[in-house]
Amino acid sequence: MKKIIFSLLLTVGAMSTANAVEGNAEAGKNKAVMCAACHGATGISAIPTYPDLAGQNALYFVKQLVDFKSGARTDMMMAPMAANLSEQDMADLAAFFASQKRASEQAVAADDNTAPAASTSAGNVDVVTSTPAKALYAGNVKSGQEKSAMCASCHGVDGNSPVAIYPKLAGQSASYTAKQLADFKSGERKDPVMMGMVAALSEQDMNDIAAYFAVQTPTVGIGESSALGHKLYFGGDAKKGITACVACHGVQGKGMAQAGFPALAGQNADYLKKQIASFRDGSRGNDSNNMMRDIAIKMSDSDIEELVSYMSALK
Ligand code: HEC
Ligand code: HEC
Ligand code: HEC
Repeated sequence: MKKIIFSLLLTVGAMSTANAVEGNAEAGKNKAVMCAACHGATGISAIPTYPDLAGQNALYFVKQLVDFKSGARTDMMMAPMAANLSEQDMADLAAFFASQKRASEQAVAADDNTAPAASTSAGNVDVVTSTPAKALYAGNVKSGQEKSAMCASCHGVDGNSPVAIYPKLAGQSASYTAKQLADFKSGERKDPVMMGMVAALSEQDMNDIAAYFAVQTPTVGIGESSALGHKLYFGGDAKKGITACVACHGVQGKGMAQAGFPALAGQNADYLKKQIASFRDGSRGNDSNNMMRDIAIKMSDSDIEELVSYMSALK
């Protein structure tokens, strides 16, 4: 009897500290977008070394995030993810993931209503990267083509910019491109040329143009690849705390459209170099939760050089 009372007291104690901040599952759902690349949109991870989060106990969940943030639990991928989360963020995320069905339950549900074979055996990553970009965003390809005429001088008619300092837009996910256009318009991402270009575009224009470029075929990468860059891309650098790029930008460098992670494969080298340098010195700061800035700040000039060689040569 004594034992039972004791454990009851422990439970009540733990609950009352956690309840100091109440989680909101709906808010958590929005914040979980940046977790999706590794843990899946509904908390079922497609990669065997990443844990499922669906149905996890909220108290345990919050404690892990607190520990990743304080360094009491170390993991080079989770440390930068947790670093920017507030107590409220953690509570919201915990509430969202706790409310998701565990893997076995999701598989059954998918069988029941002939939903597309998402998030189970096929794996979230495959599903996300193979989903046509136009299905993910509300743009009209045909009107986007007309509206993109004024972009062609720099980005090419089909989004394959011939000049190295101008990025390729062909095949980039529509959601990412539309976000960049909106960020140039709001000033959250700064570039004198692009800010002028987007000033007169409406949200619909941006969605249409983004949809048009998303369905164009990118030309393959050129230049010499880098073995060191390959290693960094897939393994990161634990000593420096550089998260592996593959986690968010994908095995083939095609990004993850639903999570807002851009494709980098075959992108023009000078452009890539400038972007990483801008994240590193903070002059580009439109990445939510400092996701890229926290990584770039740990990169040396030669890290950037090798990574850019690797990514721009990716076929
Ligand atoms: C770049 C990949 C990556 C991203 C993005 C990521 N995680 Fe993780 N997460 C991991 C890995 C890897 C582990 C396992 C760490 C270990 O081995 O200790 C983990 C572990 C966890 C755990 C502990 C699970 C357990 O059972 O102990 C929680 C909780 C968690 N992540 C939450 C999140 C949340 C919330 C986000 C988004 C804000 C997020 N993660 C984003 C890779 C990632
Ligand atoms: C005069 C040349 C020029 C024209 C015309 C131009 N752009 Fe750009 N664009 C650039 C430059 C330069 C950058 C790189 C900015 C930077 O360094 O951040 C860029 C960047 C972008 C990006 C960011 C790409 C990424 O991978 O993040 C998008 C999206 C974009 N442009 C879309 C457009 C669209 C849509 C139009 C037409 C409405 C357009 N641009 C017209 C020069 C141009
Ligand atoms: C935790 C996820 C994550 C990881 C890990 C990550 N990135 Fe990113 N990266 C992003 C996001 C998100 C953006 C787009 C931000 C925005 O909305 O503008 C981005 C943008 C970029 C861009 C700009 C692309 C463009 O078209 O302008 C480059 C270059 C880049 N990342 C390189 C890297 C490299 C190199 C690594 C590994 C050392 C890496 N990233 C690791 C999430 C990540």
